[in-house]
This record gives sequence, C-alpha cells and structure tokens, in this order.
Amino acid sequence: MLNRRRFLTGAGCVVAGAGLARTGSGAPFATALAAPAAPGGARTVAARLVAAERPGSLPCFGGVALPMWTFSEATWLPVIRLSLGDRLEAELDNRLARASEHTSIHWHGIRLPNGQDGVPFLVQPPVAPGESFHYGFVPPDTGTFFFHPHCNSAEQIGRGLTGILIVDGDTTAPYAADEIVFLRDWLIDAGTQSFRSFYTTRGASRAGTFGNVRSANGAAEAELRLPAAADCRLRLVNGDPTRIMEIAVDGAEAAAVAVDGIAVPPFPLSTWLLGPAMRLDLVVRAPAEGGTARIVDQRLGEPVPLARLVGSGPAPATVTPFDPAPLRAGRIPEPDVGSAERLSFVFASTTAPPVALASNDPADALLMASICASADTFWTINGSAWPGRDHARIPPPLARLTLGRSYVFSLRNASQLMHPVHIHGHTFKVLASDRRTLPVHHADTVVLLPGETVDVAFVADNPGRWMFHCHVIEHQETGMMGFIEVA
Ligand code: C2O
Ligand code: CU
Repeated sequence: MLNRRRFLTGAGCVVAGAGLARTGSGAPFATALAAPAAPGGARTVAARLVAAERPGSLPCFGGVALPMWTFSEATWLPVIRLSLGDRLEAELDNRLARASEHTSIHWHGIRLPNGQDGVPFLVQPPVAPGESFHYGFVPPDTGTFFFHPHCNSAEQIGRGLTGILIVDGDTTAPYAADEIVFLRDWLIDAGTQSFRSFYTTRGASRAGTFGNVRSANGAAEAELRLPAAADCRLRLVNGDPTRIMEIAVDGAEAAAVAVDGIAVPPFPLSTWLLGPAMRLDLVVRAPAEGGTARIVDQRLGEPVPLARLVGSGPAPATVTPFDPAPLRAGRIPEPDVGSAERLSFVFASTTAPPVALASNDPADALLMASICASADTFWTINGSAWPGRDHARIPPPLARLTLGRSYVFSLRNASQLMHPVHIHGHTFKVLASDRRTLPVHHADTVVLLPGETVDVAFVADNPGRWMFHCHVIEHQETGMMGFIEVA
C-alpha cells in the first residue's frame, strides 16, 4: 500500500501528496456504521444573515481591527444547528456598502433543491446591496457543512463571509465534547490595518494566494479544552479560499469518523488532505488532565500547529482502549456502478505544457484543442473555461445527465498543481485513485493530486443546473468552473 509520496512540481516546490489513511496500523476499530438516522426533527429553524462590513479584531489579527465582511453582528462565524428533518428558513440581507457588490449563499455540500443552491445567475438572481433573498429547505443529510457566497468569492470569503451548518442526528453514543475547528488563513497587512489583495495573477495561475496569518476559530494558537482522557468529536472545516492542508494529530489517538459530513467507518488518522471547503470529523482521545496534543498541518513537511488540545478535569472512572463509536451511516443513494455511464473530466492549466494523455477519450481531444489564453483564464475543465468576471454569460453545461441514472466521473488532473474538485447538489462516492489507496468514502469535494485520476460515482437524482468547479477560489474564478445539468 502506498503511504506517502512526494511530487516535485514544475515550479520546483515540493508538494506533499498524501492524504492517506494508514488503515493498517493500530488496533482495528469496530467499524460497522449504525443504521442511517431517521429524520426525527420537525422544527422550523429561522436564521437571519445580514452580510455587512463589520470591523473585526479576531485574536489572530494581533490587536488590529480589520474590515471584515460577516453574516452576523453577534459573531463573525455564525453556526446554524438543525436536527435531521428540521427545516431551515434563512433570510439573507445584503448590507454590503460597496456599489454593485452582490452576494448570495451557497449551502456547501447540502443536497437541496436547485433554486436554493445560491449560485447567482445560474439558479437565482444576484442579491444586490439593499436587497434580500429567502432560502428554505430541509437538509437531507446529517453532518458538518458550511456556507459561503458564490461570486467575487476570493474577496467575500477572504474577508470572512462564511458560516457553519451542522445537522445533528448522526451519533450513536454521545461523545464527551463536540467542537468546531474552523481553519483558515487571513491576508493581513498589519501596517495599513487592512487586508491584502485577495486575488493575484501570480497566485491564480499557481497554487493560489496564501494568507500570511493562519488560524483556527479565529485564533493563531487556538486552545481547545477537552474533557481529559475522553473521546471528543472535532469537526474540522477548511474555510480557506486557497490552502490545501494535510491534517494530522500529534500527541493523541485520533480517528476519522466522517468526511465532508458523511460517516465513514472509523479509521486511524495518519494524515488527511483537507482542501478548501472540505470537512473532516475526528474523534480524538483527549490528553490526560493538563496534557496537550496538537492538530497540525504537515503539508509542507515541518508540522505547523493549528490548534492545541488540552485535557481538563478528572479522567473517566474507567478508561478503555481507544475504539471510537462510529456514526450513523449516511443517506446518500448508492450508485449502480456496474450500469453507470462513465464520463471523463480533465482539469488542466491553459499554460501547462501539453500532457501526454491516453487517446480516444473525447475529453482529451477537447483539452488539446481549446487552449484559451485570455489574461484571466488560467484553468479549464475539459478544455472550457468559465470566466469568473462574467458569471452572467452562462456557457453550455459540461455534461447533461439523465435524472435518476448512475454515473461514474473519472476526474483527471492534467496539471501540475492540486485541485479540490467540488460538485453541487450531489455527494460523490469516491471509488478509487490511480495514485493512492483511499478508503471508500463519500465527499462533495475531492482533492486531485498532480497527474492523478480519481473515479467517483453518484446517482444523478437532483434535477437542475449544478456547479462543478475547483474550490481553490482563484482557480475557480479563472476558468476551472462549469456546471452539469441533470434533467
Ligand atoms: Cu463551496 Cu461552488 O462551492
Ligand atoms: Cu484548482
């Protein structure tokens, strides 16, 4: 089995290529997932999200207040919490002061009706300053999700415009704690007390513009106090527009129990690639009282500490070997892989040297024929680019799918950088990579390593026009964006 591989990019930097479950180590866990949750909730949960500029001074800002854009007066990171079966009624008010700064809310990972998906022009009118928009839906899945705007996203997300959506009902035995760990960078110019440019052509044409201050829950060295020696659930969310992290836990036993909100049979965490928008639910055996462990990003080799876990209080009377309680199975329809139609998607750079591709795949011909060279188009999907500067001009869909049919998408990265590829309205079953051993799991966003092909399957059961794009926002906004149509 592959463990860790390192790839040399053309630019000469070393890219950690792992994201691997080292499933072979440690005592085997009891891995059977419990039966899926039955929708027990019947409430209507109302939320008012008022997008506005609010000067904010998060702990990681080092004492300066920055012109954040947030959804709430009360907190920079609103958390909406439902039970499976509950209905969310969310009112978005756009109070952004900049002329023509329209916005919307995309409920990332939620399999909802197309009209609630929050993509301006494609499924709803953009919400102009002074306007409102109402969203209402019943999330069909339990788990950890988040929401963000879907236009000028490098800046809107860059300034903070995001929130968390948790749908409860997936636990079988309560964990001793349940904490959100929201990870992201900030692009700060401390001298001028402002943000730095959220978009750079250099970043957009490479791995993206990285922030210079890293944070977990808004703090540079977040500390989470956890009940000592007890099993705690940590919901990691990568809310960064750019950075792909390689998550590990130092100093404590940890298991992955859900990926992108959907349960996986628990496996010991070695490292996991967490691209923008991806979530990873961990169960961690908290340190003994006063002891510490760390969540780190080891993407660039030397582990970067993101959060410190501190054991607090007396240990439980009996401490059993670490064998985390699994979650309830997800409710994602099972694709019929045998009869599925196979479609190929090639994710490529417009500037990369031609990559040798297996022939007689129509996607290859498209790729080779369509090198588009506008200054702001660096990336393509199957040879076409949808420029972020003009979301209003809607191109033809990348594919037309038949409602109810199973599909296998072969996602091929023909570029020399990584791309976290995201689909709206559906959740992939990740089948296999040609470069790595991955546990079979569900995901709405899948990291593609340079040169890698990942096969994913799903039932096209949700009618509408669904975005399909790279979640490195600067890649998305410079061409690596399209949509599929299910009818
Ligand atoms: Cu999280 Cu199309 O987005
Ligand atoms: Cu990308």
